[in-house]
Amino acid sequence: MIYSEKVMDHFANPRNVGEIEDADGVGEVGNAKCGDIMKMYIKVDNGVISDVKFKTFGCGAAVATSSMATELIKGKPLEEALKLTNKAVVEALEGLPPVKLHCSVLAEQAIKAAISDYYTRQGIDPLPIVGEIGECEDCQ
Ligand code: FES
Repeated sequence: MIYSEKVMDHFANPRNVGEIEDADGVGEVGNAKCGDIMKMYIKVDNGVISDVKFKTFGCGAAVATSSMATELIKGKPLEEALKLTNKAVVEALEGLPPVKLHCSVLAEQAIKAAISDYYTRQGIDPLPIVGEIGECEDCQ
């Protein structure tokens, strides 16, 4: 299995690891099959993600994709962060081996879950905005 230099870099030096104690939104997603868990914390100022941190109990590809995903949404409006797809994260990492593609879904789902939590706390129904947060189905 060959990983790109970018994947190795984000795995060895993951950005934005940790938690935000007074987070405005927290999302936790997991996969029953591989047991990986991802937790994402966001701070929101005027509709913009001013800070984001993640913690994962997961594989290297999950660490690298989450690290890249947090970099891609930091400083971005919520609407833009919601549009971030796992495909865009994988492209930014210059690819992932096919069997590891599902790991990138975890980061996308965790971001959506955190934003959904933020909207719920604001008294806004998150579902029409965030959509369905599915499970990582093909974890292996
Ligand atoms: Fe399940 Fe990587 S997220 S093995």
